[in-house]
Amino acid sequence: MDFRNKVIYQIYPKSFYDSDHDGIGDLRGIIEKIPYIVKLNVNMIWFNPFFVSPQKDNGYDVADYRAVDPRLGTMEDFEELVAKLKAHQIDVMLDMVFNHTSTKHEWFQKALNGSKKYQDYYIIKEPKPNGGLPTNWTSKFGGPAWEKFGSTDRYYLHLYDKSQADLNWRNPEVRNELYSIINFWMTKGVKGFRFDVINVTGKDARLVDAKPGEESKSLYTDKPVVHDYLQEMNRESFGKAADTVTVGEMSSTSIENSVGYTNPDNHELTMVFSFHHLKVDYQNGEKWTKTKFDFMKLKRILDNWQSGMAKGNGWNALFWNNHDQPRAINRFGDPGEYRVKSAQMLATVIHLLRGTPYIYMGEEIGMTDPDYHGIGDYDDIEAINAYHALLKKGLSENEAFDIVHAKARDNSRTPMQWADKENAGFSSHQPWLKPTNYRQINVEKELNEGSIFNYYQKLIQLRKNDPIVSHGGYESLLMDHPDVFAYFRTYQNQKLLVLNNFFKRNTAVTVPDQYLSLDSRVLISNYDRQTFEKSIILKPYEAIAFLLIDRESGEQHV
Ligand code: NOJ
Repeated sequence: MDFRNKVIYQIYPKSFYDSDHDGIGDLRGIIEKIPYIVKLNVNMIWFNPFFVSPQKDNGYDVADYRAVDPRLGTMEDFEELVAKLKAHQIDVMLDMVFNHTSTKHEWFQKALNGSKKYQDYYIIKEPKPNGGLPTNWTSKFGGPAWEKFGSTDRYYLHLYDKSQADLNWRNPEVRNELYSIINFWMTKGVKGFRFDVINVTGKDARLVDAKPGEESKSLYTDKPVVHDYLQEMNRESFGKAADTVTVGEMSSTSIENSVGYTNPDNHELTMVFSFHHLKVDYQNGEKWTKTKFDFMKLKRILDNWQSGMAKGNGWNALFWNNHDQPRAINRFGDPGEYRVKSAQMLATVIHLLRGTPYIYMGEEIGMTDPDYHGIGDYDDIEAINAYHALLKKGLSENEAFDIVHAKARDNSRTPMQWADKENAGFSSHQPWLKPTNYRQINVEKELNEGSIFNYYQKLIQLRKNDPIVSHGGYESLLMDHPDVFAYFRTYQNQKLLVLNNFFKRNTAVTVPDQYLSLDSRVLISNYDRQTFEKSIILKPYEAIAFLLIDRESGEQHV
């Protein structure tokens, strides 16, 4: 099947289902829940890392790329999982964390023990002549990006936590090691790879300070050499199997680079995750703030990426949620009265755009952020660091918590809510993160009486069956409308008109006359709307897609 017809589901293994009742989800738990995933009818599952790891950053600190963390399962479990999913035509995508390793990885340990070969696997630098850190770069989790290298007077670079040491991609031996890890997993039947923050791997040989007012990330993000690395990786590993699906997680990237990463002529990746659309509720670009999202900005960003990527023949990964984001319903929808409608509307936006949609576990039942009340409920290193940084800035405990509560990554990492039972039916043991509103929101209830899961099923089916959804072009529409994100998809003599009301109020849309004479059919609607007419009053969080066919023009574009 063409990758453009696929929909990918994301599972955070620690939080999906706990089969051995130790409070942590595991691979056997996922095997038990395969029938549930099959119902949704997705084509591939992206698993967050389950490799051996000290879990300082929940598995993004890998200590052994070729082994399963015993807390999550065994290699036999993984092989069984792949085989059982394959029996349902579901493929597996693994998360390759190649910008850094855990400092517990044997390469780093050998480096610490004095091996010159392995010291050259990492970015280890002398202090400045005045004894200061090699550069003024900051870690993405707060504080400086440098840590003392053992008992030497040198420092190693860590763009994330100090337990995540950045690899030296300039060293070809490092790159070859990484390619052989991909090849290892391919022999196990893995058909997809997600590459963690892959566009920050291109550090220069000589690292320099960020100038006043300049962000350090501009010095190592999207460097041209990343394209060379990706082309080489493609040649040496996944490119050998034509049907492999790859996605690069691109931190602060540009459309231009993302076209480069994904235009098939370049032989780099299938698609990219970009994040600009999820920063529209950041005040002055700062994540740890709390403010309402800027709708017009959201529209502009989505529209620019759609148009720009289509123009350059690039390909977007489409998503609202993942394990690093608070739940989208809380940010862009309404977790209260209109939870269902807003969940459906947000799903419509993403699933009918040009690109590949990702569904993050729980999204298909409308899960929302947990009702947490104190920093003690949170586990994530980033949230805890941010909380203390906010206190240090002078915010009160309540103010700091309020912000963390709105933005923490743990908001989406809480256990999957299976049933209105103790621990949300996730485990009989107290889960590693507390589930909260599972009495109202859970799989059992959703499958019995809900209307979000079956809405997702419909959207997935549309992408599988309708070429306008999977292969169509994109055209912007109503860019000045203050409430509605609207767009056209185009294919042969068809147009798909998609209207999404992002607000709680009714709002009017006027359809241009030239479209009114076309044959029309409702492809999907979250309010059972049937008629296509000049003036459409959209209800709160209403989403609707009309397929318009120009019978006169045959195979021509309308
Ligand atoms: C992006 C991952 O999605 C995130 O969870 C992780 O903390 C960082 N990369 C570092 O690996």
